[in-house]
Amino acid sequence: MKRMNELNFSLSQLAKNSKEPSFINKMTSEFALDFREGLDINIGVGYVNDHTMPVKEIAASYQYVMEHDNIYRNALNYGGAEGSPNLRASIRNYYKRNQIGNLTPEELELHKIVVGVSGATSILDGFADAMEKGIVITGDPFYYSYTENLTKKGFELLPVKSDTDGIIPDEIEKALNEVDLNKISYFYIVTINNPDSIILSNERRKRIVEIANEISDKTGKLIPVIFDKAYEDTIHNPEVVKPDSPLKYNERGNVFEIGTFSKVLAPALRIGFMLSKNNQIRHQIVQRISDIGFSNSLINQEITSRLLDEYMDEHKIKVNKAYRSKALSISTILKDELSDYVEEIRGGDAGFYFYITFKDVETDQESDFFQFLSRKTGNPEIDGEKEKKPRLVYIPGTICSRQAQAKRQIRLSYGFEEPEVFERAAKLIREACEYCHKL
Ligand SMILES: Cc1ncc(COP(=O)(O)O)c(C=O)c1O
Repeated sequence: MKRMNELNFSLSQLAKNSKEPSFINKMTSEFALDFREGLDINIGVGYVNDHTMPVKEIAASYQYVMEHDNIYRNALNYGGAEGSPNLRASIRNYYKRNQIGNLTPEELELHKIVVGVSGATSILDGFADAMEKGIVITGDPFYYSYTENLTKKGFELLPVKSDTDGIIPDEIEKALNEVDLNKISYFYIVTINNPDSIILSNERRKRIVEIANEISDKTGKLIPVIFDKAYEDTIHNPEVVKPDSPLKYNERGNVFEIGTFSKVLAPALRIGFMLSKNNQIRHQIVQRISDIGFSNSLINQEITSRLLDEYMDEHKIKVNKAYRSKALSISTILKDELSDYVEEIRGGDAGFYFYITFKDVETDQESDFFQFLSRKTGNPEIDGEKEKKPRLVYIPGTICSRQAQAKRQIRLSYGFEEPEVFERAAKLIREACEYCHKL
């Protein structure tokens, strides 16, 4: 018999699949350990800009909620699993007032709202619990955080090529010819993509639902399509066509729209929500919320309700003005510094990521480019000995794409850092490219 201290825990399959920390997890914790403020640059993490957060409005909303317990009852107590009735009404009014997704009042009326236990992330996770394991179809490049979670939970990812209008329907159909349709679990479509900020065109939103419906007819089971619209409140280029909500095509009840206020208000509120028909999957999501946390924090929900009613419309204009001016100046910086080395730069219309494809410089974790920017080349002249040399963190394309060019791609986030930091960042990237070319 083994002695007590030699025994191992008997772990679940999910835990066994999660033994290795993810790249992002590892990268951020390693970097945080010896981050040198003012010297090192982290444009890998997708943090939201602190200056865009409605600090005063949140304080005022908290005060208001506390002083109006006739409206916001028991705001410091447990809440119901579907979400605060006040917040759900505020989200509905926000949609109506702004004609979000060009939904008519009648179309909106056909859908119910549920508030996730902790952001959009928890609703996406709930979906993975609700659905039978199988293939999940998504765009390539893909949102690595969720796709990694899906893989750990036993789903198989089918990433489909995208272009500057988003995931390509013809490519979905081609990919479908290669798989057993009965194994398809659901579609996970990000409408403004992370990592490349590409906005999915309105025509494609409609076509993707049609394709899911065709599979449903062939297999005899309803295939859900999740549209993750996390960044739709942050379309800052005024020339972009207003996006249609795919709920317009939800005759069969298999379309789910997931949103969040993380990007336009504050991630720490942890308010994400889902609009859908009242069906089995919605019931499952609500039950998961109850099982793992009873409800989202009721006080945060009530504060957000007040924020939406009183401040949101003006605040959103301010946020997008700030991201617009940042996007324009950083785009100029990147073009000025890197045009010799770059094949394509995506992004700059919405959200806060640029996705760069280099002509021939490789960027994955083993690459010279990566070693240069993390100061791990082994050459003291480059890594710095006495003199401290700045390091730069980015997300390599290989983390979020299976396409051949992923090896030459990087995601840069301009959410958190100011344009001045990007001046330094772009110079460092240029030096890394020059270094690779000299080798
Ligand atoms: C595409 C996408 N969906 C969802 C989320 C997470 O949203 P939340 O903060 O509401 O969990 C993110 C955050 O980066 C994201 O990029």
